[in-house]
Amino acid sequence: MLSIYVLVEALLFILPAYLANIAPVFFHKIFSGYNFPIDFGRNFFDGKRIFGDGKTWNGLILGTMIGGLVGYLEGNVNIGLVLGFGALFGDLVKSFFKRRIGKVRGASWFPFDQIDFILGAFLFYYLFFRQFVLTHFFILLILTPILHLATNWLGFKLKLKKEPW
Ligand code: CTP
Ligand code: MG
Repeated sequence: MLSIYVLVEALLFILPAYLANIAPVFFHKIFSGYNFPIDFGRNFFDGKRIFGDGKTWNGLILGTMIGGLVGYLEGNVNIGLVLGFGALFGDLVKSFFKRRIGKVRGASWFPFDQIDFILGAFLFYYLFFRQFVLTHFFILLILTPILHLATNWLGFKLKLKKEPW
């Protein structure tokens, strides 16, 4: 049965990935002059950027470390590191395909922008720990885009963001 308990359990499980995914945004705001693109500014065979300026080494490393920190606070550093790195890996793979279909950095690509890091986090968690909880996966797949849109709307209302989405 779907209870509030399962919901909280799923959110606590994925928390390192959530925060790993958010961390690069703040880093970018604070250290905007020191961003090193993962693709080193290079293009793919189609003449478009491999990943784009939105995917940096700083974001990848910092996000993974934040994942580890959240994991540490929750009682397991390794799980946090794996979920954090997996989240940013998923985000990176998403951007690769986003560039291939011609969407520029920052353009919206629903629902992949919202769930990329969930897919990456669950994949890496499975690869490292050989565990996959289907209920958590489905709950988070549905809940995450809703939370995403709600927080963006809040950010807009608080004048932190220009668009309400
Ligand atoms: N970011 C980063 N490094 C990463 C991931 C994210 O520096 N590995 C920072 C970038 O400043 C990015 C911001 O976090 O602009 C928001 O991330 P995201 O929405 O995933 O990137 P977009 O800029 O929207 O780029 P894309 O179109 O490739 O998704
Ligand atoms: Mg984006």
